[in-house]
Amino acid sequence: MTLQPSSASGNDAQPALSMENISMVFGEGDAAKTIINEISFSVSKGEFLCIVGASGCGKTTLLRMLCGLTAPTSGEIAFTGEKVCGPSRDRAMVFQDYGRALLPWRTVAQNIALTLETFGVPKREHRQRVAALADTMGLSHALEQYPHQLSGGMQQRVQIARCLAQDPKLLLMDEPFGALDAITRQGLQDEVLRLAKKNSTTVVFITHDLEEAIYLGDRVIVLAANPGRIVEDIPITISHPRNQLTTREDPQFLAHRHHVFGLLEGH
Ligand SMILES: Nc1ncnc2c1ncn2[C@@H]1O[C@H](COP(=O)(O)OP(=O)(O)OP(=O)(O)O)[C@@H](O)[C@H]1O
Ligand SMILES: [Mg+2]
Repeated sequence: MTLQPSSASGNDAQPALSMENISMVFGEGDAAKTIINEISFSVSKGEFLCIVGASGCGKTTLLRMLCGLTAPTSGEIAFTGEKVCGPSRDRAMVFQDYGRALLPWRTVAQNIALTLETFGVPKREHRQRVAALADTMGLSHALEQYPHQLSGGMQQRVQIARCLAQDPKLLLMDEPFGALDAITRQGLQDEVLRLAKKNSTTVVFITHDLEEAIYLGDRVIVLAANPGRIVEDIPITISHPRNQLTTREDPQFLAHRHHVFGLLEGH
């Protein structure tokens, strides 16, 4: 597979992504509603940022703006020094609803190849690249199957493989594991974390689940609703590689859990 080469630290501390005073208002006149109010933050190259917040606080809206699918009402978003003003091959989005993200009439291999077709990768390279991505995501045995023949976890793996096919520098994930059972979710958490660190991919990961945020994140941003705004931006310095049992029992993990739980309860 042809993802970016790894860097030793996984975090080169150079800002990759920046949001400056981002606001989003939906509707006009008396019906106008501020969904996001003056949010600013930046993310370093290779950093894994998790964002948690209550339902409706604007998480998906924020991610769609980072992807370039929606323009903010005001403020500036830049990725690797360039203003974000539309979708780009450098930025890939994994949607929560994998059932609707996959094309049901295409096999796993054809779903993964969709990205290669979109970005004009020569057809003779498809088979090898699809095989490498399927291998990475544990899908090699399912290449000729259709989405309805797969479990939820497998379908989400296909969506992630399809995103990785575009060699993204920024991976945007919108509650990607929310509908999966705990064991499948933990397995995919570890795979995404391993891949992101190996390839120095910058990740913005949205979740409702504060433990998932602390387990995965180098940083956790807590949002409040009405309007969506940052309550706290918390560095998570728990060492890597993380482990589903020992990390979750680490006193630092438990202290963060108490703290973030309190913040979410208070908003
Ligand atoms: N295109 C739109 N037009 C009008 N209102 C919208 C639009 N998109 C989102 N909203 C509103 O913006 C608010 C935030 O929505 P968003 O989907 O970003 O929330 P969220 O934090 O992702 O919620 P959840 O956790 O339930 O997924 C909601 O009140 C929603 O109704
Ligand atoms: Mg959402």
